[in-house]
Amino acid sequence: MTQAYPQDVANLPGLKGGFSSDNVAGASKEVMDALIAASVGAAQPYGADEFTQRMEARLRDIFECDLKVFLVATGSAANGLSLATLTPPWGAVLCHQDSHINNDECGAPEFYSAGAKLVSVAGENSKISPAALRRAAQNKVGDVHSVQPACVSVTQITESGSLYSLEEIEEIGAICRDHGLKYHMDGARFANALVALDCTPAQMTRQAGVDILSFGATKNGVLAAEAIIVFDTSLSDELAFRRKRAGHLTSKMRLLSAQLEAYLKDDLWLNNAQHANAMAARLVQGLSDIQGVKILGPSQANIIFCQLPEPIIQGLLAQGFRFYHDRWGKGVVRLVTSFATALEEVDALIQSARQLSATSMDQ
Ligand SMILES: Cc1ncc(COP(=O)(O)O)c(C=O)c1O
Repeated sequence: MTQAYPQDVANLPGLKGGFSSDNVAGASKEVMDALIAASVGAAQPYGADEFTQRMEARLRDIFECDLKVFLVATGSAANGLSLATLTPPWGAVLCHQDSHINNDECGAPEFYSAGAKLVSVAGENSKISPAALRRAAQNKVGDVHSVQPACVSVTQITESGSLYSLEEIEEIGAICRDHGLKYHMDGARFANALVALDCTPAQMTRQAGVDILSFGATKNGVLAAEAIIVFDTSLSDELAFRRKRAGHLTSKMRLLSAQLEAYLKDDLWLNNAQHANAMAARLVQGLSDIQGVKILGPSQANIIFCQLPEPIIQGLLAQGFRFYHDRWGKGVVRLVTSFATALEEVDALIQSARQLSATSMDQ
């Protein structure tokens, strides 16, 4: 099997400019090698194996605390199960309007929580505004006719590519404490956020009061494994039963754990994220001085939103570049880079956009 690693990607047919999502990448070689090695021989099922124990111990080291880990296969399952554990059926999950849980999970949080309501809270650049959160946290508390604020969910990095600062994460944690709310973080791109903020995993989560983290790995080099990390370990029994009941207790758990173990070994997760973020920064730099191109909002990790003239969009698509466009507004393009994005792909897109811009100006 030929493998799709950064240096080869640009030459693979059909992958030219895979900027639609970080999901268009495959998996890191180290993860695939670990998976193959782990598939030999026998191990106890349902997580009672050495791979799972080692992976949990590694996460305890990384987050510098006791914690419980529940692996599932998708980020939507991680979010849905986490939020159900933090919110009663009559509760409200306070989240940003742009959040993945609000727009892209087909009602999974509502389904898993047996009916909790997602209540959107305003804020610039897809980040919850503390002032708006304080108001929402007090809305109709004690009124039997209304859902009760129970939990706050933030996405780090956000769906539009912005980043909560440590102070902002802490401030939301303080509001949670003041109002007796639980705190969830959707970290589908946790590593991208961590390397961009240059802080410790503990600072970005439990030290700020986060109770449960959806720790993403699939977008950043893993085949299919996401970790629900429970810092408030009093919640872990409930999560264990919820995961089984939802059909997410994988019998051959060692094969998920082996992926995570390889992901966390020798800083692979951080190096992959550094690469993805660097490719995004190069794209922003290259695109920003092209006539007609406007970068929208802060792009602080590996997601870029920009406004492109129609001839540039159509020209790039005709040349085989792939990305989402016109989903968030006319001419709005989203470009996402990953651990497998090749420098050549990035430069090819910039060069093509520049040529298309010049051609359209001549006409
Ligand atoms: C912010 C965010 N959260 C969670 C997810 C998890 O999604 P999935 O269920 O596709 O793994 C995604 C994937 O696009 C995401 O962007």
